[in-house]
Amino acid sequence: MDRVYNFSAGPSTLPVEVLQEAAADMLNYKGCGMSVMEMSHRSQDFQDIIDAAESDLRDLMNIPDNYKVLFLQGGGTLQFSMVPINLLRNTKKADYIVTGNWANKAYQEATKFGDVIAAASSKDKNFTYIPKVGKDAFRKDADYVYITTNNTIYGTRYNYIPDTGDITLAADQSSNFLSEEYNVEDFGLIYAGAQKNVGPAGVTIVIIRDDLLGFAPESTPIYLDYKTHADKGSMYNTPPCYSIYIAGLTFKWIKKMGGVKGIEQHNIEQAEKLYSAIDNSSLFTCPVVKEDRSRMNAVFVTGDKDLDAKFVAEAREHGIVNIKGHRSVGGLRASIYNAMPDEGVDALIDFMKKFEMENK
Ligand SMILES: Cc1ncc(COP(=O)(O)O)c(C=O)c1O
Repeated sequence: MDRVYNFSAGPSTLPVEVLQEAAADMLNYKGCGMSVMEMSHRSQDFQDIIDAAESDLRDLMNIPDNYKVLFLQGGGTLQFSMVPINLLRNTKKADYIVTGNWANKAYQEATKFGDVIAAASSKDKNFTYIPKVGKDAFRKDADYVYITTNNTIYGTRYNYIPDTGDITLAADQSSNFLSEEYNVEDFGLIYAGAQKNVGPAGVTIVIIRDDLLGFAPESTPIYLDYKTHADKGSMYNTPPCYSIYIAGLTFKWIKKMGGVKGIEQHNIEQAEKLYSAIDNSSLFTCPVVKEDRSRMNAVFVTGDKDLDAKFVAEAREHGIVNIKGHRSVGGLRASIYNAMPDEGVDALIDFMKKFEMENK
């Protein structure tokens, strides 16, 4: 069977070259006689894999030396807990910007650990925009401010970084990690689950500034203290070895694509093409305000549930899959992460036009 165009929000499409390289290495990784899945995490071969992955990520994101890169487990969801446990280190106050389901889950979880408020939210308009906030929106003595740079379900993206002054900024970049350039120094902590732009589910990458380490309360379970992992080079316990290996291959692929800058340009072009097809259509509409539209997850609707369902079903026949909106919002969603080929976006647009003609 030919490969389909997979618009899944995650786990999602990976670069074919990465999958081919993994396939070639499957039984005998670089002559060592075994698969990476079978390898001790204490072996030199695996140490080389994780070291290369870290070093390539540092290059790609220009990560300064005073930041640690951690490869953890537990997905984005465990970070909803680890962030407050570790970063509520003085006043135990944190200010969250709630821009969708995942931001809200992170906020709700954080309220268990301190004096945590929603400093801003876009719930009033069903999360179809990103609130524009500055320093005044936050409590001056907050330990940190938390944002979700790309909202996977609602299809929004911050087109600016909130100025938090001296307050540490923490960001969930799960669904736009490595898809656009960021200045790491604008953040005290960045995290991202791998299963969108990086590799298979199983590894979560955390980038954290050194001075934020070491403040978890003494009762903190050892795995939940970032310092545990920072002190042991992500090898306190068995790391998600295979996911780290694929992430490493993806980092090399991004380098070949012109680095994050190159990928970002490519992502802008794909997103513009898709949104312009939606905006020029008389059947489909995008509920998100133009300036806050995600370049990774394009949300759109026909306005008729049955027609949406028909679109999803017929798209499948054209090799276009996982185009259904998240179960909490319905409608349609095309996730066009880094590895989505141009042909996939073109096929989707062609099919949208055909569907519109047939269903006017
Ligand atoms: C922005 C964002 N944050 C967090 C999560 C939760 O990630 P996980 O399923 O790895 O726990 C998701 C999942 O899609 C997400 O899109």
